[in-house]
Amino acid sequence: MRKESQSSCNFARQANEGGKSLLRFITCGSVDDGKSTLIGRLLYDTKSLFEDQLSTLKKESALYGTTDGDIDFALLVDGLDAEREQGITIDVAHRFFSSSKRNFIIADTPGHEEYTRNMVTAASTADLAIILVDGRYGIRQQTRRHSFIASLLGIRHVVLAINKMDLLQYQQEAFEKLTADYKEFAEELGFQTIKAIPMSALFGVNVASKSEETPWYGGPSLVDHLDAVSISQPELESPFRFPVQWVNRPNRDFRGVSGQVASGKVSVGDSVTVAKSGRHTTIKRIVTYEGDQSSACEGQAVTLVLKDDVEVSRGNMLVSPTSRPNVADQFQAYIIWFSHESLIPGRPYVLRTETDSVSATITALRYSVDVNSRGHQLAKTLAMNEIGVCNLSTQHPICFDAYASNRTTGNFILIDRFTNETVGAGMIIHSLHRANNVHWQALTIDKVAHAAQKNQLPVVLWFTGLSGSGKTTIANLVEKLLHAAGKHTFLLDGDNVRHGLNRDLGFTAEDRVENIRRIAEVAKLMTEAGLIVLVSLISPFRSERRMAREMMPEGEFIEIFVDTPIEECIRRDPKGLYKKAITGQIPNFTGISSPYEVPENPDIHLYAVDRDPSELADHVGDFLHGFWTRLSD
Ligand code: ADX
Repeated sequence: MRKESQSSCNFARQANEGGKSLLRFITCGSVDDGKSTLIGRLLYDTKSLFEDQLSTLKKESALYGTTDGDIDFALLVDGLDAEREQGITIDVAHRFFSSSKRNFIIADTPGHEEYTRNMVTAASTADLAIILVDGRYGIRQQTRRHSFIASLLGIRHVVLAINKMDLLQYQQEAFEKLTADYKEFAEELGFQTIKAIPMSALFGVNVASKSEETPWYGGPSLVDHLDAVSISQPELESPFRFPVQWVNRPNRDFRGVSGQVASGKVSVGDSVTVAKSGRHTTIKRIVTYEGDQSSACEGQAVTLVLKDDVEVSRGNMLVSPTSRPNVADQFQAYIIWFSHESLIPGRPYVLRTETDSVSATITALRYSVDVNSRGHQLAKTLAMNEIGVCNLSTQHPICFDAYASNRTTGNFILIDRFTNETVGAGMIIHSLHRANNVHWQALTIDKVAHAAQKNQLPVVLWFTGLSGSGKTTIANLVEKLLHAAGKHTFLLDGDNVRHGLNRDLGFTAEDRVENIRRIAEVAKLMTEAGLIVLVSLISPFRSERRMAREMMPEGEFIEIFVDTPIEECIRRDPKGLYKKAITGQIPNFTGISSPYEVPENPDIHLYAVDRDPSELADHVGDFLHGFWTRLSD
C-alpha cells in the first residue's frame, strides 16, 4: 500500500532529497476545465521550469497561445504537437516539482471520458486528487465519475479546485454553492479531507499564493494546502507482504528470493510464511545492490535469503506469519471496465496481480454502479468505463488482500487472451468461500474403466461454423460412421440443447458464452462416461472454443471448422432465418448482426462448398482413424 506510515521505514517517501516528504497526486478534469493551465501554472509559480523550457514556452505562446501574447501555460503540458492539434491531452504524464516543504509528483490524467484507464493507473498510487471544475458549469457527470473512481482506488484526500473564478467575477456565492453541491455528493465517498479552493489558474489566483481577488476566502492557496495536508495514516503499520518476482540462483551456493516489499517491514531474523503453502522460515540475509542490510521496508527492491530451502516462486508471497493474506480462487471485486468490447461473464480472461497471472472468469456480475447516484443496477455486462461488483473465479488459488487494506496486493488487471489488451482493473473486496467445503470424490468406476468397457478412447469432436454451414448434417454422418463401427457416441446439437438444458438462454454474447460453457461441461462429463462426443454448435467466439479445449485433457478435443462462406449460408437458408435476420426481424444473428470469429488453427478444416457432406464426413472419419492409430501405437 502506498500510504505514508508513521514508521520512519518508508523507502518510497524517504528517497527524496533534502529530507522533504513526497506527495503524489493526480489531476482530474478536462483541458476545458483548465487542467493543463493549472499544471503549467504550478510548475511556473514554483519555479520548477528550466530556462530553456521557459524560453520555448514564451516563444510558443507568442505563436500558438490563446492568451494574447501572455504566457499560455497550457502549452507547457499539452506537449506533443499531435495532442495539441487534437485539442486533448493523451496518456499519463508524470511531472515533478517541489516547494520549500515537499516534493511532488503529479500524474496528469486526461479528462476525456475514454481515458478512465489512464486515470485508474495514475490514481492507484496517488495520495491526493485535485478535482478540477469549471466554476461556470458546476459539478458534472465527469466530476462525479472521477471522484468515485478516486475513492474506489483508495485516494483519501481531495482538493476541489473551482477554476475560472475570474469569469465569475470571483463571486463568493458561486464558490460556496459549488462547494456545497460537491460535498453533498461526496459525503459517502469516504474522503478524509475535501478542500475547496477558488482559483483562476490562468491568472495564478490562489495557486502558489493567496490572492487579493478573493478576500472572502479564508483558506490556503493550493500549494500551501499541498504542503500542509497530512497524509499519514493513524492506523498501525500494514503487515509484511513480499510478492515474489523471481528466484535468484546464480550459483549453487546462493538462493535468494527477489521482489519489492509491497507493505510493512522485514528484518534479518524475522519469521516469514510462504503464503500459498503456509510453510514457515526465517530471513537469513537481506541483499541489495548496495550490499546487505538489516531490514527492508515498503517500496524497497531486495533479495531475501531464507534459512530453509522452502518451495517459493513467482506468483507466491512471503508474508507476516501473524497476519496472512487470503489464498483463494473465488472472490468479489469492483471492476472498472476499459474496453470497447463489453465484459462477458463466463468468458476466460487473464487475471494479473502484482505477482501472479492466471486464467479467470467473472462467475457473476452482481450489479453495476451508477456513478452519479452510486445506486446499484442489475446488469448483464459492463460497457466501457462502467463499474460493477463481480464474483470471480480463478483457475488456481491466488494470494491477495482486500484492496481497502492493501492497495498493492488487493488490485489486479484483466487482459483479453487474444488481443492482449488490458480490458479492466479490479479492486478486491473479499474472498468467497462458497466451494470450500466441496471436495472431489473418488469414483470407483472411472473414465478409464468406462472407456475400456466400450473399447474406445473418448474424444470430443467440436463442429463450429455459421448457421446453415452444414455442421449438424456432417456431424450426423460422422456419428453414423462411428456407430456402424461399433463406437459409443452422442451428438450434442446446439438447437436441441437449447430446447432443454439451455432453454433459458438467448443469443446475446453473454448467453452464447454460457451456452457454450454448459455444453462443454456436459461434453466433458460424457467423455468421462467413456463416450465419443460430437458437438454441433456455432460457438462463434475463439475464447470459448479455447475454453472448451482447455477443459478437456490434452488431445481429447478436436476442433472441426465447417467452412461455408456466409453468402452460401444465406443462399441455402434452410430454416429461413437469414432472411429474417437481414430484414432485422432476428437480432444478434451470427454472421449478420453478431460476429463469427473464424478458427485460426482448427484440427480439421472442412471447405464445405460444392462438396458432398458424406465426403466431408469420410474425411473426419479418416482423421479419427489416424488419430486413434497413433494413440494406440
Ligand atoms: S451459439 O452461437 O450459442 O453456439 P447455437 O449453435 O447454440 O449458437 O444455436 C444456433 C442455432 O440457433 C442456429 O442454427 C439457428 O437455428 C438458431 N438461431 C436462432 N436465433 C439465432 C441467432 N440470433 N444467431 C444464430 N443462430 C440463431
